[in-house]
Amino acid sequence: MKVRIAPSLLSADFARLADALAIAEEGGADLVHVDVMDGHFVPNLTIGPPVVRALKRATRLPLDVHLMIERPEETLEKYTDAGADWISVHVEATRHLQRCLGLIRRGGAKAGAAINPGTPVAALAAAWEDMDFALIMSVNPGWSGQPFLRSSVARVRRARENAASAGARAAIEVDGGVDASNVGELVEAGAEVLVAGTAIYGQEDPVSAIEKLRAAARGGVRV
Ligand code: DX5
Ligand code: ZN
Repeated sequence: MKVRIAPSLLSADFARLADALAIAEEGGADLVHVDVMDGHFVPNLTIGPPVVRALKRATRLPLDVHLMIERPEETLEKYTDAGADWISVHVEATRHLQRCLGLIRRGGAKAGAAINPGTPVAALAAAWEDMDFALIMSVNPGWSGQPFLRSSVARVRRARENAASAGARAAIEVDGGVDASNVGELVEAGAEVLVAGTAIYGQEDPVSAIEKLRAAARGGVRV
């Protein structure tokens, strides 16, 4: 099981995104996590397709675009067109989950279904074969820097087990309050993609923070 680290640009300086990408590359990150918020699904408002397109031109790392937007089916093709490599939509934000996942795959990206901490893991049940990854939120989305919800470890484990019993090979991603103190148990529970904002860009030396996260994640690798 390869563990991937995805620094979240939400915690970086939005006036210096190129520097944040360089930090991710230098630290050996595997993906760059891009939080798209619409001011409706979550109260905060961030960036859209033009910035995703600009980021794509500025890095060799794959872009993991987390859509925290209502009715993603209406706009998600703009994100595949902009060069997003992974795209997740929230099950709470659409009435047509499989349609969204199909559109993402047809656009050439990996398709993910995300769930908020208050949504049962069972909400993913009907779509395991339609997704490449499941994103388990470990905070209520909207801002970086929120404390990790402890119940998320069990939710990651349940998602991993449910995917396995469905015969699906979806990767499990976890996002929110992830840091060196919890990555070991998250990996042990089955997380393969670790998103971290404050634990990387909020640190004095963000490059070494990525390396420290990777070292801590190794502690949780199952044999
Ligand atoms: C939260 C976002 C996260 C966030 C993570 O709404 O989806 O990606 O930026 O930041 P930290 O790691 O600080 O919780
Ligand atoms: Zn996110």
